[in-house]
Parts: sequence; structure tokens; C-alpha cells
Amino acid sequence: MCGIIGFTGNIKAQDILLTGLEKLEYRGYDSAGIAYFKENGKISIRKTAGKVKDLRAICDDNDATCGIGHTRWATHGGVTNANAHPHKSGNVALIHNGIIENYHELATTYDLEDRLISETDTEVAAALFDKFYDGENPIEAIKEVIPLLKGSFAFCIMFENRPGVIYAVRNVSPMVAATSKEGSFIASDLTAFIEYSKRYFIVPEYAILTLEANKIDLQDLNGNTIEPEFLEVDWDMTAAQKEGYPTFMLKEINEQPAAINRTIMPRIKDGLPSFEEDGIPDSFFADCNDITIVACGTAMYAGMVGKTLMQDILGIPVTVAIASEFRYERPVITDKSVVIVVSQSGETIDTLEALRLAKTKTNKTLSIVNVKGSSIARESNYVLYTHAGPEIAVASTKAYTVQAAAFYLLTCKLALVQNAMSEADARTFIRNLENVSDNIAEVLKLSDKVEQLTKRMLNASHTFFIGRGSDYTLSMEGALKLKEISYIHAEAYAAGELKHGTIALISEGVPVIALATQSHVYNKVISNIREVKARGAYVILLSMDEKITDATICDTHISLPKVPEQFAVFEAVVILQMIAYFTSTGKGLNADQPRNLAKSVTVE
Ligand code: G6P
Repeated sequence: MCGIIGFTGNIKAQDILLTGLEKLEYRGYDSAGIAYFKENGKISIRKTAGKVKDLRAICDDNDATCGIGHTRWATHGGVTNANAHPHKSGNVALIHNGIIENYHELATTYDLEDRLISETDTEVAAALFDKFYDGENPIEAIKEVIPLLKGSFAFCIMFENRPGVIYAVRNVSPMVAATSKEGSFIASDLTAFIEYSKRYFIVPEYAILTLEANKIDLQDLNGNTIEPEFLEVDWDMTAAQKEGYPTFMLKEINEQPAAINRTIMPRIKDGLPSFEEDGIPDSFFADCNDITIVACGTAMYAGMVGKTLMQDILGIPVTVAIASEFRYERPVITDKSVVIVVSQSGETIDTLEALRLAKTKTNKTLSIVNVKGSSIARESNYVLYTHAGPEIAVASTKAYTVQAAAFYLLTCKLALVQNAMSEADARTFIRNLENVSDNIAEVLKLSDKVEQLTKRMLNASHTFFIGRGSDYTLSMEGALKLKEISYIHAEAYAAGELKHGTIALISEGVPVIALATQSHVYNKVISNIREVKARGAYVILLSMDEKITDATICDTHISLPKVPEQFAVFEAVVILQMIAYFTSTGKGLNADQPRNLAKSVTVE
């Protein structure tokens, strides 16, 4: 939530800030602003409600070489010009990602209320830094203020008589920094400056970073110097661009075959799963009584795919928990429990806190994460990086399929170690997994047909997604995707449960997307489809049964390539992603940046 960037160097700052903010817009896009040092050392601010393009329109050309920029996802205070960042108070201008929970108390205790012109927690922090700033020593002011703050924060701060210098400090909210020949950079995520440097470091929590054009200084709150730990990314600028696609979402849907291969191929050795390079010992898989999967949003639905598979193959209890609930419901975890935490960004605050709680009960935590070096990756006992490359569209697509693929690999490994699968069966299983990327490539060829059928959905107010078993877990992801980007109400239902209430909502023409890929419940699902069809529903059916043509069962049939049914989730979900995507674009909406949402949710 909220994207921040800072640059100080020997070239003009404004375009670096604005272009960087455009890359960070996935983190929030309701208002934007920049602050920069003018030649006289004073700070100038431009900010507005709206997107970065609206900010660009009100920025004049200038020669400033040092500045900070922010794109907002509102938490405290509505979407107004005054609430947009940067906030300036006295000699201090700052941008903030996070929430200062005790802002009200601080404003009262330090008598700041009369100075405030916005409704934000951030402006209180700006006023507090200014109050403690003696005009000489910014670092001392930061050291005094930071212990007073409760909550999460990533700040970039400029002090009026310190031209060319940006100070940064964070707790929980992410921040990465880099230096290059052009100058020093800081941002919420390195997509903002990757064209200048692929080498970066994660700003440690509670460390003060001072950025100047030709040097950086990192110290802890006691003044001890810290050496930054540099990392290097394995993708470049083109991966963070649309590369000819009209949207990032469509690009990411189409990237799935390659992304899955990047997740699984390095972990298949001699036809069997291997986590040697991830440093995960076999004992991790052997000594495991039960598994809890914790995540939010789409990552949680990928976890549900994992649960169905693991429980089926391993025969041990597997639970999926919503991270924000897990934290408050006294989870039953023992030292023999494996906790798998799933997160594309590795920064979702509820998932991170859930991981921290799990670690108080077991040291068998494993994360499935896309972003290298992110907080969840660093704090879990073991990490499996999905290597999917940057996912920019707010609605997650490739992250889901690679997370699901990681679960398939893990399940196979667990099954081998726990003698729940023979080596021969494991080899067949892995061969089927290796075929997934080609199967998805086949499914992507159905995009015209899917686009065509979504014309029937454009005016719908309500839709239902139904299925049984793994098809029910897919229904949840399909419904979420449609809600997120088309704003059409979508509800996922276990097909057998429909008649206990929801069927009352089925009337003439209501779209029902039905999934029937699992043979053991196939006839039952078909009966449930007949029930909604008899009440006038417009049924779109996804199955691997080429024989279906019967108009009494469905109105449109999407025939999926025939694969072993355990692997049907991958191709079915791609169709669901395309249904959501073409419904959104068919309605003329911005599929990449749906209203009210943000990609990286770093507030609780
Ligand atoms: C937000 C995003 C979703 C994502 C969820 C969890 O809601 O919009 O696309 O699935 O957060 O994010 P994570 O980075 O933890 O996977």
C-alpha cells in the first residue's frame, strides 16, 4: 500500500521520480505527489488527488537533482489534495508507507494539532520530526522520534536546510535502496529504479539510511555503522514492461507457461523433486504430522489447491487459514506441524505477522514467495522462490499458478519421504507436472472463444461459480478474479450446497460458471448444473468431456485439453482468469488497476 521513491544524484530528479511512481502505482493510485529541493535549498511540493499522470500534468520542468515521490492508497483521510503526500511541516517534508497507529495520541501529547492541515497520520509524523529537529542534526531528530511511533512505516524525509540529502527509516513496510553512476535511489520496490541498478539492498528495520548523490550511510539507532547486504535480481527492465500487450494482466496471463517452468524445472532432478538447492533437508518433510497453509487473497486460494492435493495424497490433516484470522484464533500448531506461508510480494502484513506467530510454535516454517529478499522470505525457516518475474497487475494470475505448481512439487516430495507414493508414481506425477506449461499454452489459444462468451456477462449484476472438490477451490479464485476487476458480484459455491440457500438467487439469465473436471463427483456436479439450468441460469461449463453438446446441461461449453484430472486445475484456472479479464476490458475498465485495491497490502 502506497509506493515511495527517492532520488538524489547528478541528473534531473523529476522524471526519475514520476517514472518510478508509475512503476509503483500497483501499490496504490488514488493520489500522488513529489517534493524536491530548489536551488535555494527550499523544498517545493506538487501533489494532487488522482493518478501519476495527473501529477505529471501539474509538474513544471525543473533542474532539481534531489527529491521524493509518493503514490497513495488512502488509509487515514479521504482522497483529497491535502491528504496526498508529501506532507510538509516546518522544515520537514516526508512521504510515508504504513500506518502510525498512535498518531492521535502523539498529536495531543506533543501539542501538534494546530499545525495539521490534513487528516492523515503521516502529517503528525512530519510535525513530530520537525518538533524534534534543532535545525542542525536531522539524524538526532530521527533517533528521538522513531521510538515514539507505534505501527508500520517506511519514511523518506527531506530537511529544508539539507539540500541533496534524503533520510530514510522503516519498520515492517518495505524499502530497498541502490547506488549507481547517476546517484542514489530508494523505493518501496526495485521496479521503480531497476533501469539504473539491478544491484540493491533491503533497508534493515530501524536503521537510518542517509542518501547523498555519491554516497550512502547506514547506521543503527545507536549510531553504529551497518554494512548494506547487496542482492542482485535475475530479471531486467523488459520484465517490468508490457512488451506489446495492452495490459500487464494479459501479459502475465500469457507468461504462465514460462513462469511455471521457471518454478519447477530447477527443482526436478532425474525425474524427481529436489529441494537441495533451496537448502531444505529431507528431515523437514519426514517429521511432519500436519500442515497449515497461511496466506491472503489469491495466494490463499492457491493454498487451497495445495490442501486438496496434499490431503488426498498424503492422508494427513491439512488446514488453510486466512492470515488475518489465523493471528487471532489460537491456531493449533505443534513442533511437528509444518506451516507453509504463501505470498507473491512477501510483504503482506497479515501473512508476515501470521508467520511470526507460527514461528513461536514450530521451527518448521516454509514460505512460497516470488519477491527475492522480501520480509516473509527472510523470516521463514525455509523459502521456495517461485521465480515468476515481476507481477504488476493488481489481480494476481501467474503468481497463483506458480504457487500451485510449487505445492505440486512439495506434495510429491512429502509423499516420497513419507512413503505415501512409490518412486514410479512420483516419476509419472512429475512428468505430468512438466506437461502443465504446454497444456496452459494450448488453453491460451482459446482466448477468442472466451472473449466472445464474456459478452454475455457484461450486463450481469450477479454471477455464480460452482464446482466440487478441487473445482470448488478454483471457483473461489474465479469469483475473486471477476469481482476484483469487473465489479460484478460473484459468489463461489460448493455445487452440492447450492440448494441450501443460494439457488434462491438463480433467476432467468444469471450467469453460472460451472467446473466439472473431477470424475469422482462428475455426475453429481452435472445434476447440480441441471438444477440451476432448470431455473433459467445461463451456464458456462468447463470440463474435459468433449462429448458435451447437450443444451439442457449448459449454454456454452469450454472443452479443456484432456489431462490427468489432478492437473486440470492449471488449465481451468487460466480460463477463469480470461473470463474475468475479458469481462473487465469488455466493460471498458482498467484491468490492471481496479478501484480501491492495491497489490501489496502492507496495512492490517
Ligand atoms: C492483494 C492483492 C492480491 C494478492 C493478495 C496477497 O489483495 O491484490 O492479488 O493475492 O494481496 O498478496 P501476496 O503478495 O501476499 O501474495
